[in-house]
Amino acid sequence: MKISVIGAGNVGATCADVCAHKELANEIVLLDIKENFAEGKALDMWQTAPINLYDSRIKGVTNDYAATAGSEVVVITSGLPRKPGMSRDDLIETNAKIVKSVTDQVIKHSPDAVIIVVSNPLDVMTYCAYLTAKVNPNKVFGMAGILDTARYKAFLATELNVSPKDIQAVLMGGHGDTMVPLPRYTTVGGIPVTELIAENKLNAIIDRTKSGGGEIVKLLGTSAWYAPGAAAAQMVEAVVRDQKRIFPVCAWLQGEYGMKDIYLGVPVKLGKGGIEEIIELKLNDAEKALLEESAKAVKDVMGVLDTMNMF
Ligand code: NAI
Ligand code: 2OP
Repeated sequence: MKISVIGAGNVGATCADVCAHKELANEIVLLDIKENFAEGKALDMWQTAPINLYDSRIKGVTNDYAATAGSEVVVITSGLPRKPGMSRDDLIETNAKIVKSVTDQVIKHSPDAVIIVVSNPLDVMTYCAYLTAKVNPNKVFGMAGILDTARYKAFLATELNVSPKDIQAVLMGGHGDTMVPLPRYTTVGGIPVTELIAENKLNAIIDRTKSGGGEIVKLLGTSAWYAPGAAAAQMVEAVVRDQKRIFPVCAWLQGEYGMKDIYLGVPVKLGKGGIEEIIELKLNDAEKALLEESAKAVKDVMGVLDTMNMF
């Protein structure tokens, strides 16, 4: 079994490292366009294997897609990250060209692969990969919801001084300021979160979650990688181990939630075939309105890709 990660930068390298620690495949291929970059990272990682005691072989290559051939899962992280003052949407032109050329190569060498997109702007780059790959959309989806939900859970765990393990939550919508955390579907050890925290504090956490990516960009001068890399690896694990896990994932909607022809974050079941089911929550009117607002923001950026005439 082989997993490939395209882009050996901060997120890609972290994702490959977590996949290796979890021994998700015999072989993990890390590919980058920068000469020797993936080779160096892969070598360094492989030298942690005798310390951390895992068997997954990590191989780094420079733009050699033949090495990725026959991958079961491919994670696409290639592209520019945000710098201070930039929104995720500012990256569209550069990253669309990168994601298209990468996906072309990926699908040529691994026509049956499940493709997980991480590059930003996430919802639109996932759409870009789907238009390029021309395969069943259940096999092309994006990582954002697990990360955004993890941020929400981490802030709640700090505020309530509880273990993050006990927090269950779901967050929907696009990977941007319009994302929709859902307090009604948030529990702590089975207890509705609204019974444990004052409304104003919960609202502050929701606001912080929405700008959680930007908070890190301001601190670091580039975007986050530990949580994004781990989140992508969790999706890889759900697929290769056929776990049937329920996660918020950027998925292609064809009528679900009353929406069509849009990639948007929704709860899904992830297993061997990729997205095995899109779960439709019974949203109330206020939640529906927030989701629709988020969908509109995503559609606007999808429209920018459409006007680029790349397909
Ligand atoms: P990075 O700059 O550390 O790494 C990107 C890598 O992609 C670089 O090593 C670069 O050489 C490589 N690359 C560029 N063009 C390529 C090509 N044509 N083929 C192969 N490799 C190529 O950036 P980082 O921090 O790893 O972020 C990667 C992407 O992920 C960015 O677009 C970022 O905005 C996005 N991101 C998305 C998140 C999400 O929740 N979906 C979270 C965090 C980052
Ligand atoms: C993040 O949310 C920038 O999408 C990236 O950290």
